[in-house]
Amino acid sequence: MQDHLTIVKHPLVQHKLTIMRDKETSTNSFRRLLREISQLLAYEITREMEMTTRRIETPLCPMDAPTIDGKKMALISILRAGNGLLDGVLELIPAARVGFVGLYRDEKTLQPVQYYYKVPPELATRLVIALDPMLATGNSSVAAIDLLKQSGATNIRFMCLLAAPEGVARMKEAHPDVPIVTAAVDEKLNELGYIVPGLGDAGDRMFGTK
Ligand code: URA
Repeated sequence: MQDHLTIVKHPLVQHKLTIMRDKETSTNSFRRLLREISQLLAYEITREMEMTTRRIETPLCPMDAPTIDGKKMALISILRAGNGLLDGVLELIPAARVGFVGLYRDEKTLQPVQYYYKVPPELATRLVIALDPMLATGNSSVAAIDLLKQSGATNIRFMCLLAAPEGVARMKEAHPDVPIVTAAVDEKLNELGYIVPGLGDAGDRMFGTK
């Protein structure tokens, strides 16, 4: 994957995203749409995976057929909203290994603090896809990717639903080697760190916690 930022402008993605942004959309629909979009984003983010061939027998003849090369991919959910992307991607790539990164924001320093970290072994030899629907300030995404690199990951991609220009810039500065795939880059962050126009708090909207 060459570009640092890929915006998936496919009409299905954009149409579903508009429904998700609408504040009248129910928790149930929000979750379903996020799952559907995650699969369309997964299609894009895995476009340039390494391939090899495998000798098989079709009912008619032998064939060297294309198959994905290398170790099983690692999907890393950045808690808690990352789980909303995880389910759909895992449905599409059921053999993937799964990890979780939990970070909260320290009220005083405003810096992300780790409270949970569990990732698959041998990250150095895997394609690692980090999942977080909202790339806002970029602080937690940058911190999560710092941790994945400390665990040896070298081939990392970042999937989100919505990004703010500030978050994209922060990621590009800290991790220029990590391509971002998103459905949209919105106008700005507000003073509370929400993406505008955005869709509100993705975790609250998908889990019905507000
Ligand atoms: N996280 C969210 O859930 N929403 C935002 O707008 C920004 C960060």
